[in-house]
Amino acid sequence: MRYQTSLVFICYNKCSRVDFKPLYLYLMKILAFGASNSKNSINKKLAAYAASFFENADIILIDLNDFEMPIFSVDRESQSGHPETAKEFVRLLGEADLIIISLAEHNGSYSTAFKNIFDWASRVNSKTFQGKPVILMATSPGVRGGKTVLETAGTRFSFHDANVVATYSLPEFHKNFTEDSGIIQPEYKASFDQLIAEVKSKMES
Ligand SMILES: Cc1cc2nc3c(=O)[nH]c(=O)nc-3n(C[C@H](O)[C@H](O)[C@H](O)COP(=O)(O)O)c2cc1C
Repeated sequence: MRYQTSLVFICYNKCSRVDFKPLYLYLMKILAFGASNSKNSINKKLAAYAASFFENADIILIDLNDFEMPIFSVDRESQSGHPETAKEFVRLLGEADLIIISLAEHNGSYSTAFKNIFDWASRVNSKTFQGKPVILMATSPGVRGGKTVLETAGTRFSFHDANVVATYSLPEFHKNFTEDSGIIQPEYKASFDQLIAEVKSKMES
């Protein structure tokens, strides 16, 4: 696994210059996003919440509104090539040690915003996820918690070289999640905690 390395100095006793001892702190780079372009995306909140459980991590939370591109078409592609924004998205995936995605479900599938980015990104690099560990999540206000899109992505992403290490669905977001406390329903919180512990252990091995 590749880590970003930060050099920090620890002060022992009096903190004179000679007392400083260098310590290499390894920061795991996490790329997290809600696969939605809603300003108040509940999936962005869930992805950010999951990322916050990884200590000593460099967390990059992106907003898909910053990756808006023309609607993918093979004609546009042959005329103009790939947008720089799509290349940037693929670059961010490639730089991450762990990717956390929470998918919005629209009519049983990906949001249009995410599908467009995914289509362009898959043309920049068909191995879009570049072998990176991916936590796949979904939530919705409904009782199925985006399970349909979660299943779709769970199957599809592996064709694009995603190493899906965990999946998680949170039903009835507004009932089971608060801004202050995160997941408040005990059973969903327990399964979430277990997921985080399992991923941490996989990342460390
Ligand atoms: C066009 C449209 C279709 C939707 N279809 C579904 C659906 O199939 N299943 C579902 O659980 N919720 C569906 N919803 C509700 C979304 O889950 C809800 O808007 C949620 O907040 C989307 O996630 P976001 O806040 O991260 O964008 C739909 C919403 C829209 C606008």
